[in-house]
Amino acid sequence: MRLIPNPASLDLVGSGFSLSSNTVIACPPALRAEAEMLAGWLRPATGFSLAIVANTREGDVIELGLSENLGHEAYILEATPERVSIQAGDAAGAFYAGQTLRQLLPAGVFTAQPIAKVAWMVPGVRIADAPRFGWRGSHLDVSRHFMPVAFIKKHLDLLALHKMNVFHWHLTDDQGWRFEVRKYPRLTEVGAWRATTRLGHEYDKRDLFDGIPHGGFYTQAEVGEIVAYAAARHILVLPEFDMPGHMMAAIAAYPELGNLDAPAEVWPHWGISKRVLNISEETIAFAQDVLSEALELFPSKYIHLGGDECPRDEWVESPRMQAFMRAQGMTDEAELQAHFMKRMDAFLSERGRVLVGWDEILEGGLAPNAVVMSWRGEQGGITAAQAGHDVVMAPYHTTYFDYYQSEDRANEPLAIGNYTSVEKVCAYEPIPANLDPAHAGHVLGAQCQLWTEYTPTPAAAEYMLYPRLCAFAEAVWTPKARRDADELLKGLKAHQHRLALLDVAQRLMG
Ligand code: ACM
Repeated sequence: MRLIPNPASLDLVGSGFSLSSNTVIACPPALRAEAEMLAGWLRPATGFSLAIVANTREGDVIELGLSENLGHEAYILEATPERVSIQAGDAAGAFYAGQTLRQLLPAGVFTAQPIAKVAWMVPGVRIADAPRFGWRGSHLDVSRHFMPVAFIKKHLDLLALHKMNVFHWHLTDDQGWRFEVRKYPRLTEVGAWRATTRLGHEYDKRDLFDGIPHGGFYTQAEVGEIVAYAAARHILVLPEFDMPGHMMAAIAAYPELGNLDAPAEVWPHWGISKRVLNISEETIAFAQDVLSEALELFPSKYIHLGGDECPRDEWVESPRMQAFMRAQGMTDEAELQAHFMKRMDAFLSERGRVLVGWDEILEGGLAPNAVVMSWRGEQGGITAAQAGHDVVMAPYHTTYFDYYQSEDRANEPLAIGNYTSVEKVCAYEPIPANLDPAHAGHVLGAQCQLWTEYTPTPAAAEYMLYPRLCAFAEAVWTPKARRDADELLKGLKAHQHRLALLDVAQRLMG
């Protein structure tokens, strides 16, 4: 029995609790939803439809309660022969206690159908647990390959199992716009579909395309459904609208957003496109209109506006952009992007939201309220934290899960390159070694990234995510003093059995 992620403390205290069809779940009204979720997890494999009651009783009870002495997301779980007692700081804490209880039971509990002859024993334990970081994120690119709603929900369920709490949804990119916008229907009519897709790497000599149209998008109703599904699992959905680069799908739909007269296509290539937004009042109004519709659907305080990999070639060559720069007294094209981001930062700030961007938003001057997501290593995060900004660590070398998981590439599905083993993720430490403790508090947490150029299907995506995501979850949840990479590796092997029962197309460890 290895809990993933490892809790902050776990003591074995004697005999355990035997779950039966007569067990009831007792909870106050404020934890009713968490009790129902727990009953729902236990039902399929055990066949027990546990009653949910308001008042606790002497024995055979799973008791959920709130405690003012515990913080956000924290819980204490005690299992004795009479009861499983759960005290939580809030509903999220009770939810995580339920996830822990699931993992304390025999792994068969993850089976989708009733299984016979299992003693549903919870070992006698006292667990006091709380997360190390408030931001425990998983980024998923649905632009390079569209992922269906059912898969997004399965992904959210698996994030919740690992006590992850941010789903960073990369909704737009050069290769496809995936978010329905009422005011700009062509974003999805045109921008959600590409005619063909690059086969192999962009640097391969052979210029091969599959010739198969690819696309898809989420209606606003589906977005609302996913946001609610995530919220019920205490997961924040962080939408990303990547701009002013990575915008070719939008420019294909509305050419006036671009810099050239030449038509743009929804990009069938991989890599960094030079076709980027023009920086003008009209384009800023467009972006703010898109955000206005997004803000209706996404309650998240944080909104991600990308800002990464925006080549400035078109701005250098555009008489319009050069005239705009002169009028604004700008001498460097980097200031154009900073101007755009500052306008978006002000727009979001006025609406009580916070702009998040990849670390390129440091160039040309950081917008005053922005949160920096540090992907090109850790330096961007360090610089931003030292300047008093909050940061989320997402360094490519350890948290990019589109990288190979083995050095034996011939026996792995095609990946973007590099090598990030599960061992490396097990040893990942989110706080950069050279960030002074005075500024370390600005590190909200970390997240793992899955870009999907080479993962066209949910199964291909799961192969890249698991088990690395499980190891990552421990890096953001478990106190540093309780982490042991070698011991985690052993635990992951057992944990893979749970994931197999959940039908996860994981990469099996040797
Ligand atoms: C990124 O990988 N371009 C954020």
